[in-house]
Amino acid sequence: MHSGVIARWRAFLPVTEATPALTLGEGDTPLVAAPRLAEAIGCAELWLKFEGMNPTGSFKDRGMVMAVAKAKENGARAIVCASTGNTSASAAAYAVAAGLRCHVVIPEGKVALGKLAQALIHGANVVRISGSFDDALKIVRKEGLTSALVNSVNPFRIEGQKTAAFEIIETLGRAPDILALPVGNAGNISAYWKGFVEHDERANSGRPMIYGAQAEGAAPFIHGAPIANPETVATAIRIGNPASWSAAQRARLESGGRIDAVSDVDILVAQARLASEAGVFCEPASAAGVASLLKIGKGKQFAGKIIVAVLTGHGLKDPQIAIDRSPPLPDAISPNDPRLVELLT
Ligand code: F0G
Repeated sequence: MHSGVIARWRAFLPVTEATPALTLGEGDTPLVAAPRLAEAIGCAELWLKFEGMNPTGSFKDRGMVMAVAKAKENGARAIVCASTGNTSASAAAYAVAAGLRCHVVIPEGKVALGKLAQALIHGANVVRISGSFDDALKIVRKEGLTSALVNSVNPFRIEGQKTAAFEIIETLGRAPDILALPVGNAGNISAYWKGFVEHDERANSGRPMIYGAQAEGAAPFIHGAPIANPETVATAIRIGNPASWSAAQRARLESGGRIDAVSDVDILVAQARLASEAGVFCEPASAAGVASLLKIGKGKQFAGKIIVAVLTGHGLKDPQIAIDRSPPLPDAISPNDPRLVELLT
């Protein structure tokens, strides 16, 4: 049942009669059991909220459908965003669905191929800058731009994204003990916390401890201040100055959770383990939460816990990483080659 986020969660979203019934079939993503990784982490249950199954392959679609519908409702002709890739892909697709123009500003050379392909095929105006995501966000937040801003500083984005928390509670019957997720611009961590708190106030469903994960080279929350030149293989979270700084700190503090840093190697190992031990292929940034759980879990503190890790984007966004990390393929052989039986045994 993919009625979309607006139709399904209408009662809990700031929509009116005048809000267009926009959808590309976002939301209702699977919660996949990962028993082998649960054992490695030392928890009772590990569930993967696979947000890569959204229409453009990332969690951004949940918030984008709201932001674009509200922009349309308010008479916008165009939308604009800064992006490390996924936001631009999502904005480009939803702009098409709503009949709006779309402008995206991206850091040159730091956007995974699949994401760039999406922005282009959906017809977005792609502006590349020789700077970081943080520079790009400054540009689109400038006074004087007439397009509606659809980055997560737009509160409608957070409203849409909080619905993932509702779905998790619906599937598990209650909130998990811990929710682990990657943190970049810090919109999603804020949205999940908002969703869990709202649901708990309504239905006494409990609240998880929120465990955020940043890449070591782009970890302003661990550093305690913005970082000028963030660097990480997980380009989606290559962000030095998160816009939702205080909301993320609130989520961490109020939930009794934490925000940790993981190395690029930890991230890539977690991505590979998710693929080979749970059957789920996510992009590198999406594996940061699990990387952090694997690191912390060595201290045995997760005994008996039910944990949900949010896998924010699909692995096909960034196929080159997977290919580069795998051993080179042997040369092609003839279909009549006698060694075939041996090779396939
Ligand atoms: N995971 C993926 C796959 C992302 O694309 C992002 C953010 C995050 C995690 C972090 O989420 O920013 O809400 O803390 N991507 C943005 C973009 C910045 O432009 O696509 P956050």
